[in-house]
Amino acid sequence: MKTPIVAPSILAADFAHLQKEVEMLNTSQADWIHLDIMDGLFVPNISFGMPVCKAIRKYTKKPLDYHLMIEKPERYLREFKDLGASVISIHLEACPHLHRNIQQIKGLSCKAGVAINPHTSVALLEPIIQEIDLVCLMSVNPGFGGQMFIESTFEKLKALRNLIDSKKAHTLIEIDGGVNSANARELVQAGADVLVAGSFVFSATHPHQIIESLKQLD
Ligand code: DX5
Ligand code: ZN
Repeated sequence: MKTPIVAPSILAADFAHLQKEVEMLNTSQADWIHLDIMDGLFVPNISFGMPVCKAIRKYTKKPLDYHLMIEKPERYLREFKDLGASVISIHLEACPHLHRNIQQIKGLSCKAGVAINPHTSVALLEPIIQEIDLVCLMSVNPGFGGQMFIESTFEKLKALRNLIDSKKAHTLIEIDGGVNSANARELVQAGADVLVAGSFVFSATHPHQIIESLKQLD
């Protein structure tokens, strides 16, 4: 089985010891660090903003995977690029001019991702799938960490894998929300490339081992 990219979500970290948490990730097998940006409008919660992102960047060289759960994300793309973004994902549901926003992200030399909510059909990605580097398939309703994985994600994952393969696209599939040892293996088998994991990693006694277990699913 292929080895997934593992992207721990810093949202579940202990913010009182952020430097320690980031250094823990630095010495782990984590590939990317996933940063959840919430504006209290697109989603009902507010997470953290630029000063926190800057502090994280200061302590890591790992690629930063920004997941923008915000309205009008075009206002901040340049800033996130300057805050070390390798990947910037924006929500299809928040962007009436999604195609333009994707081009803006690519123009900043970042990987362009599109996130879709659990109720959003994979078919809506068909016109843009060849333009984007990553699809963030939400397997919980965005806004909070620590939620239960929504099982119908598997059907969407299969549909998305088919869409990408039929278009001969190279788009990565990222699964975000409720990822743990009960579903990780099946997700990768069904075609997931990137696993985001928040509480599964940070609530563990030995987070390094949890990250390693996500890298070695055989
Ligand atoms: C939810 C976020 C997720 C979340 C994942 O809105 O996009 O990235 O932090 O956390 P867990 O793994 O705890 O569901
Ligand atoms: Zn996320």
